[in-house]
Amino acid sequence: MYTVLGATGTVGAQVVTHLIDRGHRVRAVGRSPERLHALARLGAHPAVADMTDSSALTDAMRGSSAVFVMQPADHTATDHLTSQRTMTDAIVRAVRESGTQRVVALSSVGAEISSGTGFLVGLHILEEGLASLPAVEVLALRAGWFYDNARAYLPVMQNAGLVADSLDPEVRVPMVATRDIAAAAADALVGTGWGGGHSVREVLGPVDVDQLTVTSVLGHAFGLPELRYVRLADDDMIDTLIAEAGFSPDVARHHVGMTRAINDGRVAGRRPGTRVITGPTTIDDYAADVARSAREELRSFHSHTA
Ligand SMILES: NC(=O)c1ccc[n+]([C@@H]2O[C@H](COP(=O)([O-])OP(=O)(O)OC[C@H]3O[C@@H](n4cnc5c(N)ncnc54)[C@H](OP(=O)(O)O)[C@@H]3O)[C@@H](O)[C@H]2O)c1
Repeated sequence: MYTVLGATGTVGAQVVTHLIDRGHRVRAVGRSPERLHALARLGAHPAVADMTDSSALTDAMRGSSAVFVMQPADHTATDHLTSQRTMTDAIVRAVRESGTQRVVALSSVGAEISSGTGFLVGLHILEEGLASLPAVEVLALRAGWFYDNARAYLPVMQNAGLVADSLDPEVRVPMVATRDIAAAAADALVGTGWGGGHSVREVLGPVDVDQLTVTSVLGHAFGLPELRYVRLADDDMIDTLIAEAGFSPDVARHHVGMTRAINDGRVAGRRPGTRVITGPTTIDDYAADVARSAREELRSFHSHTA
């Protein structure tokens, strides 16, 4: 049995699918029985547990050969890092009390830095918490920026013809497809070859990509040749995240703290001495796939309403 936290999320759901496809039993953990239902239909065993509830997490992890750990961000938290520490404490306690021996944790490039990197500090806290479990084998997968973050832009992209963020459009960002992260995580969960103890691997796409390129590739795939990238000033980005995405002010500031750290080069991939798993998916592959599914969804919507 493998336990997957965040099983209804972008990466977790794909980890569940990989494991089931390979014939493994999977306990899929999330907050909502309704959202877990689709995974149960695939054959996963649903388990409801909040990421702050160590005893429910302990029950969900018990008896697992290995556990996939991810730490979500609560976008409404008034104090982001306190919220992250609360989740880390519950997860670490559950790993210890359930007797789990092996953990594969979803982390991020930049998680080695303890402060000044916005959202990524939450993953530093998670990695540190897991490092306090010397008897547990832990593999931290430090992923690049997800190509899949583009899904959040799609409505604005298609309606307003722009992509907006506080990332410098010319800075090359370590990016990766979530399907490649999920494949790496599933391999690690069922495999034995991480050398024991506590290990780190970066999980990155074939090349780092700047936002001008991402925008142009998405524009091409979606038939929007005029699509442009707009770099928002940090304060405007914070205001936009609060007004449009429902972020709390503190969480919005952590997004901008992260993009600032990427813009000034403090957060980078392929650090000397760190092993890298290079996923095969390029941004062009990703954009073509996401555009194809958007077209299929539209066709299916029209055929149901015709
Ligand atoms: N986006 C990036 O570019 C990037 C890059 C590197 C690393 N990361 C890290 O990747 C992680 C996000 O992964 P993702 O995109 O796969 O996640 P996601 O799609 O945002 O999904 C979040 C998952 O966490 C669950 N969840 C949320 N709050 C919960 C709570 N209080 N208790 C229990 N479950 C809860 C959700 O389940 P429900 O069904 O209950 O909502 C869902 O399964 C974060 O740690 C992020 O820092 C992201």
